Amino acid sequence: KNIVILISGGGSNMAAIVRASQQQDWAGRHGARVAAVVSNKASAGGLVFARENGIATEVLDHKQFATREAFDAELARIIDRHDPALVVLAGFMRILTPGFVQHFEGRMVNIHPSLLPAFPGLHTHQRAIDEGCKFAGCTVHRVTAELDVGPILEQAVVPILPDDTADTLAARVLTQEHVIYPRAIAQLMRN
Ligand code: GRF
Repeated sequence: KNIVILISGGGSNMAAIVRASQQQDWAGRHGARVAAVVSNKASAGGLVFARENGIATEVLDHKQFATREAFDAELARIIDRHDPALVVLAGFMRILTPGFVQHFEGRMVNIHPSLLPAFPGLHTHQRAIDEGCKFAGCTVHRVTAELDVGPILEQAVVPILPDDTADTLAARVLTQEHVIYPRAIAQLMRN
């Protein structure tokens, strides 16, 4: 069972998933492996980690495409080459077209840095602080046509502390993302 991970940046979630998949019993138990990491940015730091771990990498620059549809069609073609059982969005900062989502319907997941359905979209940590929330967190969910909506698979909660900034809160949430994302994926691969 091949897993394809899409990133745009640092790729710390991708790295957490790769590390989990390298654990002795992971691949054997689930028969699953990270087959490729795809980025829309050549500069994405996560690509280096992927290459160092012997994982195939692909870069598809969205700026080379006139339309979202054209980019997504090529992206789907690249992903399909790796015959994915699961497509994992891990800090992939592109809005996906309905056609793309439909193509991978039922086998695509995302992680979002809020307790969905609260705070879909960007700037989740600042918005949670501004609202006076006492807790924040992260959500792994199945991807459906609407942005940051879809059946929830896993969540983790962290406190918001009085002195938190968006950055300190983001760091606290990110440590939990690294826990729940590999776990949710392992669970899906088990089924
Ligand atoms: C994570 O907070 C993820 O939830 C959000 O973007 C960030 C990506 O971080 N969508 P990384 O690239 O996995 O380090």
